[in-house]
Amino acid sequence: MKPLFVLLISIAWTFTGAQHYYQGLMDYLENRLLAIEDRMQLWHDLSQRYHTEMKDFKKLTAEAMDGLRNDHSTLFKDLEGAGVRVDRVEREMDYVEAQTSPRACALKTEKVVEQEAWGLQESRVEEEDEEEWEELLSRVSDCVEIISGIRSVKILKRVGSPKGMWTRDPRSSKVYVFNGTSGDTIYQFDSVRDFSRSLGVTSSRNIRLPSDWSGPGSAVYNGFLYYIQQDSDMDVQVVRYDLLTGSVTDMTMFPVESHASVYSLNPETVADLAADDEGLWLLYAPSDSEPNISLAKMDAATLDIEQIWDTRCPRENAEAAFVVCGTVYVVYNTHLASRSRVQCVFDVNDMVISEEAPLLYFPRRYGAHTSLKYNPEEKQLYGWDDGYQIIYRLTMKRKLLA
Ligand SMILES: *[C@@H]1O[C@H](CO)[C@@H](O)[C@H](O)[C@H]1NC(C)=O
Ligand SMILES: *[C@@H]1O[C@H](CO)[C@@H](O)[C@H](O)[C@H]1NC(C)=O
Repeated sequence: MKPLFVLLISIAWTFTGAQHYYQGLMDYLENRLLAIEDRMQLWHDLSQRYHTEMKDFKKLTAEAMDGLRNDHSTLFKDLEGAGVRVDRVEREMDYVEAQTSPRACALKTEKVVEQEAWGLQESRVEEEDEEEWEELLSRVSDCVEIISGIRSVKILKRVGSPKGMWTRDPRSSKVYVFNGTSGDTIYQFDSVRDFSRSLGVTSSRNIRLPSDWSGPGSAVYNGFLYYIQQDSDMDVQVVRYDLLTGSVTDMTMFPVESHASVYSLNPETVADLAADDEGLWLLYAPSDSEPNISLAKMDAATLDIEQIWDTRCPRENAEAAFVVCGTVYVVYNTHLASRSRVQCVFDVNDMVISEEAPLLYFPRRYGAHTSLKYNPEEKQLYGWDDGYQIIYRLTMKRKLLA
């Protein structure tokens, strides 16, 4: 009996010990779990807090950004306002200067800008020209554009005398330079790049015409040169010269017997030929007593005059004019060269009136323009300003259709 008792006791003891052991283990685990739970709660709280802080921060930055954006636009508006004011002051100064100074100060030192860069850019443009021209030809005339501004100015180089003319045939991309106010020679370059790279006119092909051109009022269009010729009796003719074959194909008498020049500031411009998307135009003064510029639409092949208009734009203080899309833009200046501006507009289709067209100021350059020749394909003007050859790129907008 006794050994069994002892065994039972020992088992009981073992049980109690085990119970103790397990209880301890349980307590330990429970504590660990509680601790972990606590820590998790802490992490949770922390992440919650970070999240909230993050949200606040985002809100703050968004507000700050908004504020900055507003500031920026106000600043921008202010700058615009200042720009307008500067422009106004500049115009007033121009006016005062024109009234008082012997000659508006021309900035002779202004650099002849990046010829190389321009040349490269030009070559790329030229490659697309043929295609664009084909497209232009196949299209029915749907030209409803009006100039809205001058996008950029390139001073290409300075060649020849203060007065002259240069232009580019939209079809062949060839460039023609008319030095001075009359002569029987013109210089032909294969491209604007060739012209800008040429030392003077050394790399040009010289073209000798059968008669003298008179005044910087010629036009080159579709491989033909149209020029004004004044014979010994001072009779004025328009000559059509084939640049490919080198021969005169047509000649026509001037619509009126007039010895008055078309622009009062450039008396050498007997009459001014212009080519645009719609064909060939002639700007002229019908008589000495007629104060306004007249416009004639010519047949580019036969030189027949199709229609004549009085532009109602005065010749007085005009220095040049050009035709874009059937609209004449007359450029005015003062005798003491100031800033050139388009101040009169005449649309043969009566769609544009002077009030609608913008008062367009040319950036101040050297003196005054002797000629401004529009290239309808590139939508840019080839200007001759005191011997500098300048390209003005134009921005266009649609005419307001009534
Ligand atoms: C341009 O013409 C002027 C005279 O009108 C002359 O002195 C000058 O040499 C000419 N320049 C060129 C490049 O033909
Ligand atoms: C010339 O144009 C003005 C408008 O600028 C007009 O009032 C005037 O009648 C025109 N003169 C002639 C002779 O047509």
